[in-house]
Amino acid sequence: MRKKVTVVGAGNVGATTAQRIFELGYADVVLTDVIPDLPQGKALDILESGPLVGSDAKIVGSNGYDETAGSDLVIVTAGVPRKPGMSRDDLVLTNLKIVSSIIGEVVRFSPHSIILMVTNPLDAMTQAALELSRFPRSRLFGMAGVLDTARFRTFIAQELNVSVEEVQAYVLGGHGDTMVPLVHTTTVAGVPITDLLEGEKIDRIVQRTRDGGGEIVKLLKAGSAYYAPSAAIVEMAESILLDRKRILPGCSYLEGEYGIRGLCVGVPVKLGAKGVEQVIEVKLSHEEMAALQKSAAAVKELVELMHRSEVAKAS
Ligand code: NAI
Ligand code: 2OP
Repeated sequence: MRKKVTVVGAGNVGATTAQRIFELGYADVVLTDVIPDLPQGKALDILESGPLVGSDAKIVGSNGYDETAGSDLVIVTAGVPRKPGMSRDDLVLTNLKIVSSIIGEVVRFSPHSIILMVTNPLDAMTQAALELSRFPRSRLFGMAGVLDTARFRTFIAQELNVSVEEVQAYVLGGHGDTMVPLVHTTTVAGVPITDLLEGEKIDRIVQRTRDGGGEIVKLLKAGSAYYAPSAAIVEMAESILLDRKRILPGCSYLEGEYGIRGLCVGVPVKLGAKGVEQVIEVKLSHEEMAALQKSAAAVKELVELMHRSEVAKAS
């Protein structure tokens, strides 16, 4: 029997994610959104591509949660994306309201599911959803580091004119200006990046990675990135649905790992059928550890703002 995946939010990220999962063929998909008919229309359009892409999976759209009941994996993409000039953090209270209205329903209809958060600001929304759901940390976490790492790997591969597959890298920390591309463990076919590129070039790539989301927002004028984000979501989803036990950067609640306690931050995690099966502690340089602490402090500030808000008090 195929697994069941619900995607909440049928906008750019949600619909593209639903399409990618449908095309892989090994999970049935429910696409939900508050806009009447929109998820139904997009789901039907995707379903009708089945004979062309060779997928027998089912996909339906809905405006409620009945159809989502018993989902194995729920991917939450509902929320407002940023506009040019806005940071991800500017979205916090608007998206907190949206996430608060969703999590109770997801827990009610799919109490044993794994929830993958995508809505920005990612780390704060993951923390809010974890607190609202009361799920264990293994079953609720967020996607951002896989996207940031894909951007980092793309820019390195471009600079060296090699296949992206040769570039091994991790971006940790919060999904914002303080994210931490790990330079000292980045390799190309096993060779340290520091042996291949000058420091000034590496610094430029690190900065472009940090600004990666903003670069797309500026070009699109309306909305934010969704092709690479949906591919990043599917990389995590596949590791869960197929129990692949990939080690990927994921936004996970930390209980003392990396010296961080009680906060959702991006770190390497092992993803399998049970969700986050292990938080992996890699050895960081002194500089990288300091950058990770700085990034965690930025996430903490946002979480505290969220906790003080009227929205949090009302939920
Ligand atoms: P979008 O505007 O295209 O789609 C958002 C959808 O959410 C809309 O269709 C809207 O009707 C729906 N929605 C709003 N309230 C809802 C509710 N209560 N229940 C169900 N659906 C609801 O935005 P897009 O581009 O799809 O981005 C979605 C979110 O994902 C944004 O917050 C964005 O910043 C974030 N994002 C996060 C990434 C990450 O790396 N974590 C990467 C890309 C986007
Ligand atoms: C990005 O980095 C919008 O957070 C999203 O593109």
